[in-house]
Amino acid sequence: MKIVDATLEQDVTFANEMEKVRADFPVLKLEVNGKPLIYLDSAASSQMPQPVIDRLVYYQTSQHANVHRGVHYLSETATSEYEGARQKVQHFVNAREDREIIFTSGTTDAINLVMHGYGRKFIKADDEIILTTLEHHSNIVPWQMLAQETGAKIRVVPVNDAGELLVDEYEKFFNQRTKFVGLIHVSNALGTINPVKKMIALAHMHGVPVLVDGAQAAPHMKIDVQDLDCDFYVFSAHKLCGPTGVGMLYGKASLLESMQPFKGGGEMIATVTFEKTTYNTIPHKFEAGTPPIAAAIGFGAAIDYLLTIGIDEIHAYEMELLHYATELINELSGVHVIGTAASKTSVLSFVVDGIHPHDIGTLLNQEGIAVRTGHHCAQPLMQRFKIPATSRASFAFYNNRSEVEAFIAGIYSVQKFFSR
Ligand code: ALA
Repeated sequence: MKIVDATLEQDVTFANEMEKVRADFPVLKLEVNGKPLIYLDSAASSQMPQPVIDRLVYYQTSQHANVHRGVHYLSETATSEYEGARQKVQHFVNAREDREIIFTSGTTDAINLVMHGYGRKFIKADDEIILTTLEHHSNIVPWQMLAQETGAKIRVVPVNDAGELLVDEYEKFFNQRTKFVGLIHVSNALGTINPVKKMIALAHMHGVPVLVDGAQAAPHMKIDVQDLDCDFYVFSAHKLCGPTGVGMLYGKASLLESMQPFKGGGEMIATVTFEKTTYNTIPHKFEAGTPPIAAAIGFGAAIDYLLTIGIDEIHAYEMELLHYATELINELSGVHVIGTAASKTSVLSFVVDGIHPHDIGTLLNQEGIAVRTGHHCAQPLMQRFKIPATSRASFAFYNNRSEVEAFIAGIYSVQKFFSR
């Protein structure tokens, strides 16, 4: 197995800078099964750097109270920090206004909000919803629930063998009954980056709104919702170095205003009597109850942290890791990469002849290497490739080339183990 003479050019200075970043992540000092942790599961959840941990501790020790409810010092501080986090998210995705950003509990919650708030109000029997084969279950199941309730129909854009959407087929799906498009920006299972801007423009030619699931895109590339012209965009904080339990929904203000609330309760109301309730303005109309205040502030801190490194720099470095890993894995016989799109993020899904993905994951774990194995919450996509599961390594900017090499050596050892 050739590892040391992989021939990709590397900007050594840049790689050295990224190496310093590793010191920000306390978890990378961990040993697992007596080996240094090699964390290659950032697509499932990324790790948290010290500045974000510090921000959470500072909030909890010096700033915590409920928001939008008090006139006292701590309540005003927490409110201003929480709303400040909203503005950080707004600028991160280049939304026009901060009221277009709703804090949710994550990507799944955000999609469910749109299904209930928009779908249940505007989608009727025989209307059509377009999804794609690449969708995560979180952008399939809510629409199926809506279809069951209303009698609407779901149409699914196919992919080619590389895992790229067939945009020509997508274009043919539109007709008078098409009312909504749900589109994953980057496939969590394969890493394919979809041509969402073009697909949004095609939908808009037919007057159809588009929700983009950006859970796997926002950690790796600049997101500009005005440039994309998407109607809704959603992602979670915990995949971009922030805490779990918080995510965001961007929606065009006019659409959010036209929607019905998803959850009822405190804060989302203007007036309540037992006869009638009137609702608050956006974004509060969609944030019933005490929101995830600490997590939202941590989300803002994670954005600050990523911007300090630079999203373009993160993207370039991760692409280099992906290309290096792809070159090395392609040298192993009996290993097949699933997802070979021309445009990908740093996800490497693969199967190995004669070895179940769970066995690969278990044996790699014995070497301290964390990968995800399974269907990746994308069972229809696995069915398309006629496989039950893959092993998936997902690289982040805090990984390095020696970790890639250890991962490849680990797969080679697993093959040796099974050939004994
Ligand atoms: N959707 C996450 C993943 O792909 C959990 O692993």
